[in-house]
Amino acid sequence: MSDILRRGRLSSTPDEDMIGFTSSMSADKWIFEADILVDMAHTVMLHEQGIIKEKDCTGILKGLFTIREEGIERLDHSYEDIHISLESRLIDIVGEDTGGRMHSGRSRNDEVATCIRIRLRDELLALAEELLELRTTLLEKASGNTETLMPGFTHLQHAQPTTFAHHLVAHSNAIGRDIERVIAAFSRVNRCPLGSAAFASTGFGLDRNRTASLLGFDSLLGNSMDAVSTRDFLIESASAMGNIMVNLSRMAEEIIIWSSPEFSFIELDDMYASTSSIMPQKKNPDSAELVRGKTGTVIGALMALLSLCKALPLSYNRDLQEATPNMWRAVETTRSAVRITRGMIASMKVDTASMAEKSVIGFTTATELADTLVRVAGIPFRTAHQIVGVLARESGNPTLARIDAVACSILGEGLSSRGLTDAMVKEALDPVMNISKRAITGGPAPDEVRRAIKMQREEAGRVQEILEDMNSKIEESLKQLFIEVEEYTGNTTYPQVTRG
Ligand code: ARG
Repeated sequence: MSDILRRGRLSSTPDEDMIGFTSSMSADKWIFEADILVDMAHTVMLHEQGIIKEKDCTGILKGLFTIREEGIERLDHSYEDIHISLESRLIDIVGEDTGGRMHSGRSRNDEVATCIRIRLRDELLALAEELLELRTTLLEKASGNTETLMPGFTHLQHAQPTTFAHHLVAHSNAIGRDIERVIAAFSRVNRCPLGSAAFASTGFGLDRNRTASLLGFDSLLGNSMDAVSTRDFLIESASAMGNIMVNLSRMAEEIIIWSSPEFSFIELDDMYASTSSIMPQKKNPDSAELVRGKTGTVIGALMALLSLCKALPLSYNRDLQEATPNMWRAVETTRSAVRITRGMIASMKVDTASMAEKSVIGFTTATELADTLVRVAGIPFRTAHQIVGVLARESGNPTLARIDAVACSILGEGLSSRGLTDAMVKEALDPVMNISKRAITGGPAPDEVRRAIKMQREEAGRVQEILEDMNSKIEESLKQLFIEVEEYTGNTTYPQVTRG
């Protein structure tokens, strides 16, 4: 079979090394299904616009069904990409007089950009769903731990008492923003470049709105030069993923340190642990370490995308082919990291006794004691900070007598004379009281955290509905595409054709 791409202009054929260097076939497995959808929509539109005859339209569509059934393996992998190998296979099956008409008014430049967007939008929706599940798991775990004391940290030093729920809700908030970013990225991914051809559009009377609508796009990328040149939607998506991974890596780091005996806050389920090939006693939090490690992979993909696109002149340049595999690596890594993190959190055992015991180590109630001195004795916070700071140098919890003594040395007067009592000091040093006092919006008081959990659950429910709408809009469009295709081919196997 002669090479349908090179046979005209070029005479010598590339050797294996050159094919390996220039081919995108291995990454193109991601867009095989999408390419068939794009070919179908384009072909239907070509006929509707009177550009190809009905018999050719039918022949091409039937051929595309055959190719889909045969699968990507059947394609000639010595071609430089999926688009040309698929077209070549089509010509093998239905002949050039029919198959050779499919690429009218089109270039691989608008074709590939459309395919990437179709696959990526599905990946983004799936990622958003998985993030939502992670968020739900964090909230579930939080709702069972609204009274579970733990030390809160700054600089990884014991800082103030908080609850495990408060900590988990913090992560849940971050994941909520990640979901928003994924949905925002989707809104710019789901715009259709098809019909832009190489870059200057085409003299054929294509109906760009028709193909965009059959393929489930929300709108067109208007300017045909921009449409084939830009990969900013990849940068934006990878950036959202970089952010997700950074957030996951922070959870992963905590899971790693919390499972050490020095902390012993949690124990991972064995499913998420590994052991040592030499030290038989070891239980290692490898899955969390890999989430942390894979963050580097996704950040690397984002950096690659930014570097690849920097200073590229308009319009299409083959450099852009290098961009796409970075996107697939990023999305595959991020999606699996989200699922694994969810699993780790859902199944981990929480050592509430150990957390509670450590919640007061390091005089974590010092801030509340200083606040109490301010409220009761009316002294400035800065002075209270100094008094409690001096007391913090001593071991053990301060007594009223010691507070008075230190206050005397600093203020020239004790604080019991200003109304400070033993009971007040005791209350300030009680971690449960510390937490219950922090009841303002966003604080760790159990009722406030329960309110936050409820709000976040409601928000998650709303996002779930938005995602369902986005999904069903795409499905409806593709259904319409297959109804059209069925009219030509009589082939009713469309429900088996998967998305992307
Ligand atoms: N494999 C190419 C890519 O991923 C498809 C477009 C090729 N276009 C071209 N003019 N060589 O970008």
